[in-house]
Amino acid sequence: MEVIVCRDYEEMSAKAAEIVIGAVRKKPKFVLGLATGTTPLGLYKRMAEANRAGKVDFSKVVTFNLDEYVGLAPDHVQSYRHFMDANLFNHVNINKVNTHVPDGKAKSLLAACEKYEQMIADAGGIDLQVLGIGRDGHLGFNEPGTSLASRTQVVVLTEETIEDNSRLFQNKDEVPRFAVTMGIQTILNARCCLMMANGKNKADAVKGCVEGPVTAMNTASALQMHPNAVVIVDEAAAAKLELLDYYKWCRKGKEQLTNLL
Ligand code: PGA
Repeated sequence: MEVIVCRDYEEMSAKAAEIVIGAVRKKPKFVLGLATGTTPLGLYKRMAEANRAGKVDFSKVVTFNLDEYVGLAPDHVQSYRHFMDANLFNHVNINKVNTHVPDGKAKSLLAACEKYEQMIADAGGIDLQVLGIGRDGHLGFNEPGTSLASRTQVVVLTEETIEDNSRLFQNKDEVPRFAVTMGIQTILNARCCLMMANGKNKADAVKGCVEGPVTAMNTASALQMHPNAVVIVDEAAAAKLELLDYYKWCRKGKEQLTNLL
């Protein structure tokens, strides 16, 4: 796991954008896994700016989002499909047909989960999966206790997640109780995982993810088993990392190493 510690949210977003944009420039038919939430907004803003400036082309890119609330139609203002349209897809030259978000209104949610897995496989697998992390260490909506071998599934949200996400709804009662989410194994199958976290309320989750035991109690800790996982955090989210100085030292040393290889 590579841990990149940034000064603040802006630097974290810029670093993530550099990685994502660089990867898409190398492979125009890139299969990009995306996340919703406050964390990736700075990344999406930069992706849109780079696209407008002609620095990156999304016309052949295929995307798969991590999750969606059960029961919300795509045009519902709180749906994750709506979030993606409003914060990224409407601002880049992506073909909307190539953007996928799990269907939270499917007649058979189980069949829709299987279909989602199949669509990812048919696209050739995810090249890079963008991830945030919940205060409880969740990736996607894979709450504590979720199998680390899980595939796209329907899950029951924790009270903490409902509370955290209620800030975007009129009131807490409007937050759906269930969601469809890629499973942890689905996420681990991506060729690269790029997780971002900022702010001190994420410090415990980041500590568990990066340095804790691999455990279903912090599903993000499964990233320790991924051969190509990058974790980009700001100083506040990194504050509880035991090896903080070492991660910073590695970042400095990496440039020298690159010259030697
Ligand atoms: P946030 O959500 O980016 O809004 O903090 C992250 C998550 O819950 O996965």
